[in-house]
Amino acid sequence: MSRAFSDLAFTPTVRDWQARQGSRAAYAKFDAPEAAPNDRLGEAEAAFVAARDHFFMATVGETGWPYLQHRGGPVGFLRVLDPQTLGFADYRGNRQYISAGNLQGNDRVSLFLLDSVQRRRLKLLGRARAVGPDEPDLLAQLVLPSTRAVVERGWVIRVEAWDWNCPQHITPRYTAEEVAALVDAAVERRVAEALSAGPGPRAAG
Ligand SMILES: Cc1cc2nc3c(=O)[nH]c(=O)nc-3n(C[C@H](O)[C@H](O)[C@H](O)COP(=O)(O)O)c2cc1C
Repeated sequence: MSRAFSDLAFTPTVRDWQARQGSRAAYAKFDAPEAAPNDRLGEAEAAFVAARDHFFMATVGETGWPYLQHRGGPVGFLRVLDPQTLGFADYRGNRQYISAGNLQGNDRVSLFLLDSVQRRRLKLLGRARAVGPDEPDLLAQLVLPSTRAVVERGWVIRVEAWDWNCPQHITPRYTAEEVAALVDAAVERRVAEALSAGPGPRAAG
């Protein structure tokens, strides 16, 4: 927990719930001025973001409905531009523009990043703005060199708060590449063990 996150997420009604349910006292220390603000990424958080191949981003529309969309791409497609700034390229997709439309009226985003192998998850709150062709240098930083899809815009997110989520109930899941690497390593280990054991006893003939 952190001061910035509790400032933003612990609304008066949330605090009432905590008080009634008995957890308010435990969380009060995060409101103290000496609590770590956690409003910019440290090294661990930046490395975690840079290693992701997907994340979820929530926005809020003008009717008040929250909206959650999955974003996926090559590892590192969610760029860490500096400790308080993330960004990613928005490619031409289903052309519903729900996130884009929501962000026009309300720039608040909630990002959820999950590492199913290490069983870690990070929550981020921030404000997003669109990056267009009038900012070519910034846009270029958001597009991975391997990309061939049509880039419609970029999104730059100014981080306002982050918080690590507890690892409970995360089922470990592995990508095909991660499974292949584990299998390769296991096979190499078995071969090395067999070679170092030398030739086995000869079969009687
Ligand atoms: C052909 C196609 C390819 C897409 N490729 C990606 C992709 O690589 N990464 C991604 O996060 N979303 C991808 N999407 C999803 C869309 O880009 C989606 O429009 C975008 O996430 C915005 O969604 P929203 O309107 O729900 O906010 C793809 C959609 C289509 C139809």
